[in-house]
Order: sequence, then structure tokens, then C-alpha cells
Amino acid sequence: MKHAATLTVNGIAYPVELDGDTTLVKALREQLGLTGTKEGCDDCECGACMVMVDGKPVNSCTYFALQAVGSEVTTVEGLADGEELSALQAAFLDQGGVQCGFCTPGMLVSAHALLRRTPDPSEEEIRLALAGNLCRCTGYQKIAAAVVQAAKGA
Ligand code: FES
Ligand code: FES
Repeated sequence: MKHAATLTVNGIAYPVELDGDTTLVKALREQLGLTGTKEGCDDCECGACMVMVDGKPVNSCTYFALQAVGSEVTTVEGLADGEELSALQAAFLDQGGVQCGFCTPGMLVSAHALLRRTPDPSEEEIRLALAGNLCRCTGYQKIAAAVVQAAKGA
């Protein structure tokens, strides 16, 4: 049975029709057209689907969309300022932290959430914060360097 609801994503309220078992990643991608959030393992293992709900990173593949009603959801599309990349996004490009790009939206969301709560994280804190995000391309070092660059404002 469908439920009429409102999802607030990146500051915009979207009317949606949700089944009880509609996951947040499906609602974002298929109903709202926000395809920046990726669906990889669909089993809470890879982090490609990471978004923030009320500032906390969550795997949207295992989070029901109805759970997000009344909360503020932030996706990778919400990190940029219009056409302007955030400092974190620019740092990923500068440091070569993007290769195939599949992991990048989830990485950016996890790193963004880290920098909100810990503006100047240690290497260990960065690696811990990104431990739930898998990358098959970069070897992680360039991604960690990008987070350091963004934190230092360099
Ligand atoms: S798709 Fe959600 S953790 Fe992999
Ligand atoms: S850049 Fe390809 S999986 Fe991370």
C-alpha cells in the first residue's frame, strides 16, 4: 500500500508516494531523479549509497524512505553550491581521488559528515570515517589526501 508523504532533500520538500518497504536510495533515484546517490551492493557493505539524514551518514539502501519523513536528507547533489563545487569536491579532483567515480558520491557524503563534526581530523579519523566506503580504484590514499586538503582549506 502506498503512503503519500513528503521527503525533504537538500532543502527542497518533495511530495512522494512510498510503499512501506521503499528504500531511501530507490526513492531518491527513481522518484526524485537524484541519481548522484549510487546503488551498489544493496546490502550495507559498500557505502556507495551514503546520504546524510539529519547530519548523520546512513546507507540509504537499507534505510526505509518512510523513516526519513520529517528529517532533512542531504545527498551528494546538496554538497555543491549550485554549479560551484564545494572545497571537498574540488579537493577530490585536485588529489586524483576520483577514478571511475562510482564510490565518489558516498565518499564525499561520508567525508562531508566527518568534517562537519571534526573539522581538522587526523589520518586515523579520516580512515575510520571512510571505513564503510569501498573504492576499487584509488587505493584510498588520494581520497584521504583530499579530505586533508579540504580540512586545511588548501
Ligand atoms: S548500496 Fe548501500 S551499502 Fe552498498
Ligand atoms: S573511484 Fe572507482 S570505485 Fe572508487
